[in-house]
Amino acid sequence: MLMNWPERVWIYSPIRVLFQKREIRKFLKLGKPQDCETALEIGCGLGRGARLIHKSMRFKDVVAFDLETSLVRRSQSALKHDSKDHIHFLVSDAQFLPFPDCSFDAVFNFGIIHHVLDWRLCLSEIKRVMRSGAIFYFEEIYPPLYANWLLKRMLRHPTGDRFYEKDFLGELDKLGLCLLHGVKTGSRFGVIGAAKKLS
Ligand SMILES: C[S@@+](CC[C@H](N)C(=O)[O-])C[C@H]1O[C@@H](n2cnc3c(N)ncnc32)[C@H](O)[C@@H]1O
Repeated sequence: MLMNWPERVWIYSPIRVLFQKREIRKFLKLGKPQDCETALEIGCGLGRGARLIHKSMRFKDVVAFDLETSLVRRSQSALKHDSKDHIHFLVSDAQFLPFPDCSFDAVFNFGIIHHVLDWRLCLSEIKRVMRSGAIFYFEEIYPPLYANWLLKRMLRHPTGDRFYEKDFLGELDKLGLCLLHGVKTGSRFGVIGAAKKLS
């Protein structure tokens, strides 16, 4: 589901980048996959996450997509000359990934899965495109944060079949994605973590 204007104000703000940098630092502490050749970012917004994945997490090539064509265009045009060969943006839907099985060493989700109508399908697609030993890095939020009394009036999110921590982490477990040591759980509001595909 596409963002409405109040959410755009937050996502376009420079403060959002500071949050993403903090999340990247947490991801780095949790660990990296053995190979750091190709990473995927789902729902890339303005493409800032993809640039950080390339620069700070040192993935050689990054593929990133968003459902909204105008954001993909803006991401593409913000690329500096030296990263143009290594970061590729496209329009796509996180529920139906246009990539073969076992294509990526890592998949990144900076807070988009709560926007996706069929979030279970999205997670199973993520697992499908991960290579054995690949890591799924996620920053995700739950209804007590984005659907509280105030924010549910301001923001636009799907309302049916939403997930809380036990649903989200339970689905990762069901798919065989194993939480990395050091992931902090137990918050009512969200999680920053990583899970590995063992086989
Ligand atoms: C909260 S924003 C996060 C953007 C970016 N990841 C960030 O952290 O700045 C959610 C993004 O997910 C995108 N989105 C929503 N549903 C999607 C879907 N089914 N497939 C791909 N992108 C989607 C929206 O267009 C939006 O850019």
